Amino acid sequence: MELNLVDWLRLLHPILAVTVVFPLLGIVVSRAVLTRSRRLGSSDDRKKIPTNVGPEHVQTGHWFAIAVIGLYLLGCARPMVAFWLKQQAWSQTPLQLLLVLLTYGITLGALWGIFKAANQRVWRLTFAGLTAIGLLVLGWQEGIFRRDNEWFISHFYFGLVATLLMVFSLAILPDIYRDRSQTWRKIHLIANTVAVLLFIAQGITGTRDLLEIPLSWQESTVYACDYDKASPTYKTCPPVTKSPN
Ligand code: HEM
Ligand code: HEM
Repeated sequence: MELNLVDWLRLLHPILAVTVVFPLLGIVVSRAVLTRSRRLGSSDDRKKIPTNVGPEHVQTGHWFAIAVIGLYLLGCARPMVAFWLKQQAWSQTPLQLLLVLLTYGITLGALWGIFKAANQRVWRLTFAGLTAIGLLVLGWQEGIFRRDNEWFISHFYFGLVATLLMVFSLAILPDIYRDRSQTWRKIHLIANTVAVLLFIAQGITGTRDLLEIPLSWQESTVYACDYDKASPTYKTCPPVTKSPN
């Protein structure tokens, strides 16, 4: 096989997206549609749809939100670690390395806090804010390809907004579920309809990126190609010269 360990580590994120996160998205959306139909549909609809679709949506929604946040953290971690290894960060910038590791810890701790503080609104929102700040700080570390000059087709920016919407969904959960607030229910519906579109965008931009990223041992050749749009030789590569044997 042409893939080495470095390539497999890069594939881990798309593999988990395709095998865990997207199937969960299917379940969450299917239960969401049923929950709404059961609430607003005719009495006939209500008889046909089981009572547990709401709780099932919320339960799988929890796991889905956690899985998306994990996928974001993993997407950022792989390029970050590769950058540290190349820069020998543990000897060159050990403090920075330590701060990033601490931010990972704080972000995960704050995510856990959102669940722990479910009954105290102020704490729940504080933990959600901390989680969001952690995600932003980690996303802006060196080594992560954000496609800043083409942010409107960027896997990173779409992924960031979708992940933040999942943190938001976790944060407002008790407002909809326990307090039965119709306003929050509507906000949830709008926010997560946008999120579904962003997840579709993640499927498109992620597979596009897979096509653009070379295998690790091919990098030196592929990255020698001209990627500069202003250059007259844009989209051309140096000829491959095979050594005669
Ligand atoms: C991305 C996917 C999601 C979509 C498209 C979505 C959509 C919906 C829809 C359509 C409803 C029914 C609203 C109504 O009755 O009018 C709903 C309810 C709800 N959702 Fe979501 N949702 C998503 C993810 C989540 C997540 C991640 C959570 C929390 C972790 C969550 C928590 C809830 C809660 C608590 C309710 C109220 C359930 C009930 O009344 O029994 N949802 N959602
Ligand atoms: C919930 C959906 C997803 C989220 C939140 C997400 C998030 C991210 C983030 C934040 C990064 C790092 C920035 C970057 O390199 O662009 C990333 C990288 C990447 N993602 Fe995703 N992603 C998702 C789904 C997917 C899917 C479905 C695929 C492909 C099938 C994919 C393929 C990739 C690839 C190839 C990279 C570069 C990995 C690397 O260099 O190590 N992603 N993703």
